[in-house]
Amino acid sequence: MRFDTKAIHGGGQKPDPLTGAVNVPVYLTSTYAQSAPGETKGYDYSRTANPTRAVLESTLSDLEGGAGGLAFASGLGALATYLWSLRSGTKIVAGDDLYGGTRRLLEHARRTWGLAPLYADLRSVDELSTLLRREHPAVVYFETPTNPLLTVLDVAAIAEAAHASGATVVVDNTFATPYLQRPLELGADIVLHSTTKYLGGHSDLVGGALIFRTQETYEQLKWLQNAAGAVPGPFDCFLVLRGIHTLGARMRAHQAGAQAIATALEGNHRVKRVIYPGLASHPQHAVALRQMRGPGGMVSMELKGGVAEAKAFLSRLKLFYLGESLGGVESLIEAPALMTHQSIPREDRERRGITDGLLRLSVGIEDPEDLVADVLAALEG
Ligand SMILES: Cc1ncc(COP(=O)(O)O)c(C=O)c1O
Repeated sequence: MRFDTKAIHGGGQKPDPLTGAVNVPVYLTSTYAQSAPGETKGYDYSRTANPTRAVLESTLSDLEGGAGGLAFASGLGALATYLWSLRSGTKIVAGDDLYGGTRRLLEHARRTWGLAPLYADLRSVDELSTLLRREHPAVVYFETPTNPLLTVLDVAAIAEAAHASGATVVVDNTFATPYLQRPLELGADIVLHSTTKYLGGHSDLVGGALIFRTQETYEQLKWLQNAAGAVPGPFDCFLVLRGIHTLGARMRAHQAGAQAIATALEGNHRVKRVIYPGLASHPQHAVALRQMRGPGGMVSMELKGGVAEAKAFLSRLKLFYLGESLGGVESLIEAPALMTHQSIPREDRERRGITDGLLRLSVGIEDPEDLVADVLAALEG
């Protein structure tokens, strides 16, 4: 089955055997009647398992090419549960461009759980190999494309280096989605998602997921999913599954808009820099072409004139709402240093180029011509 077909028919999705309903029913139940103590129809309590969640989890696994998938109450709930599976003292090499909340949780894990995250620029696999030989981390964790700088990291090369030193590779695939990139097929061991974003796709829920290359890791984390309990409710699971049905179609539309906007911005005299993996000027354009089906729907940019100019631009936009989050059908824009990445120390942000004037656009699926016109009009003032 190809991706768009799998999104609708994969993961055991089929009409409900009792009624023929074409959508998986929303099983709004916490518990299940047993015919005798311990005799169930496969479900006993909804923290452990729920039929709506089960179909979402098998669909996510199918789309990422995994041995199993687990759904969580948020992306950070998924990450917290994974971090909880690690022993105190575990070293984690993490990419140095990460969602601010991810970094905040890693730092909390350092202070209270004794985990040892260290941040590295993973663009150079040679430097990573040196670090791996020196530190022997158990985990290499990164996003690609990264949030908010849209750096594209070479999953296959990083996985090869990490595996050579015995580390597990965890990739946050939120920005790309399995439609554009499948890290497990490129050598990663675990994929993380904030399903809040493109998978849900309509800015109407918060959710997360982990998908595993091996059955063994899936079983370990399934145990912890139940033991820690950061599970999503059945209605949110239904909404993510409904979003997944149109993922391919939406990603194609997001991408068409993003490419049009990035191209228009690149030629504009008021723009200092545009970051979009689909532009030939992007430093990892070749890696993006190799490992992704397309460059995605996110664009970052800086204006000449810095933060004052950026704020004036934001106030003039009509179609782009100023807001956190991304991946919904409506276009959003934000200033990472002042919003989503505020919890990262200023010097760390600035070292990586996350200036106060940097803007991150989540290009929606409105008509690209309207979006380009909105951005160009706001630039002109
Ligand atoms: C790349 C990335 N990973 C993880 C998260 C966290 O997900 P959630 O907000 O669903 O907890 C986010 C949220 O913005 C994100 O952008």
